[in-house]
Amino acid sequence: MRPLACRVSMMSGEGALSVYARAQELERQGRSILHLELGEPDFHPAAPTREALKRALDEGKDRYCPVAGIPALRQAIAQYLGETRNLSIHPDHVVIAPGCKIALFLALMALVDPGDQVLYPDPGFPGYASITAGFGGLPVPFELSERHQLQPDPDELASKITPRTKILITNSPGNPTGTVYREDVQAQLAALAVKHDLIVLSDEIYARIIYGGNYVSMLRYPGMKERTVIIDGFSKSFAMTGWRLGYAVAPPPITSALQMLVVNSYTCVAEFSQYGAIEALRDTTGATPRMVEEFGRRREQFVRDLNQVPGFRCQAPEGAFYAWVNISQTGMSAEEICRIMLEEAGVPAIPGEGFGRAGREFVRFSFACSRETLRQAIARIQQVASAWQTRVHV
Ligand SMILES: Cc1ncc(COP(=O)(O)O)c(C=O)c1O
Repeated sequence: MRPLACRVSMMSGEGALSVYARAQELERQGRSILHLELGEPDFHPAAPTREALKRALDEGKDRYCPVAGIPALRQAIAQYLGETRNLSIHPDHVVIAPGCKIALFLALMALVDPGDQVLYPDPGFPGYASITAGFGGLPVPFELSERHQLQPDPDELASKITPRTKILITNSPGNPTGTVYREDVQAQLAALAVKHDLIVLSDEIYARIIYGGNYVSMLRYPGMKERTVIIDGFSKSFAMTGWRLGYAVAPPPITSALQMLVVNSYTCVAEFSQYGAIEALRDTTGATPRMVEEFGRRREQFVRDLNQVPGFRCQAPEGAFYAWVNISQTGMSAEEICRIMLEEAGVPAIPGEGFGRAGREFVRFSFACSRETLRQAIARIQQVASAWQTRVHV
């Protein structure tokens, strides 16, 4: 066979998905598994959302539809971002995609030329570096370290900007750390973007899942309107992972490029699901705030309990639903800790290096599952912690 295009070999998989595959294999063998590996809410969309989708199907809304998405959904997103993020968005600047990841993928496809440098958070969502490299770009990590409370350090970031730097990816609240970028930090990042004429890809997929305070989008800062692409969607805030619905909000030249890429790839997103999405945004039953309140209770319980496990140290995340645990005091590698937790305790979690080099002494747990599951998971981890307990150094 002739060789594959080399862009494929430049990309990498996702730790979460491979751990999930192994966990499923163990489940098929009859093992009891408490899934803490995937970033998937254990909620389902509210009844009015499901009803709206069914109604749309019954009304025959199952045709090809406009490339950028149905006007009513683009309008609803503009209104929603106005109400929840105080943003003034024109519906023409919204492009609907089958998931945030595709919105991100197309945005990078539209912007990255071979050799362009893309700054991205480390640890961070694995797609940032992988997709950039796939398009021939050079992913350049900036660190989220405990020294800076897992916040970006604007000075470090500034030191990495070169004439080839074109894009800055931000992700607040972030996967895997749960960091909500401080406003002074965001202001400095925005000032750097303006000074060096960078485009900012602001991944705001967890914007609704924060535990206090108001969310401030990167788009709010001076000079950012013409250089910010917001990536957001329905997977997390509305518990709609399997619907595959996301969107990009971008300045006009980028919106046109995205539409060109949509024409050349998926044509449009399923029409009926877009009608369901409009209803999700309306959230007449308050499903999202209720879900976030519950995540808040889980966060409190789980972070407290994780800090009782020998050698584990976890700072409470300010947003999203991940616990990012420093395991350096266990005297074992994150891979070994995760192997023991999965194989011996049936508790899958992700070794931090899957999110970048800066994550190598960490493990990510998702707490998007019931408090009872989290309680059982901790009990199981405590049982296998004897494997590293004697090595713990404080
Ligand atoms: C930071 C971040 N961006 C994007 C995505 C992809 O979202 P979607 O499932 O909507 O494609 C995820 C999913 O985990 C994520 O954590």
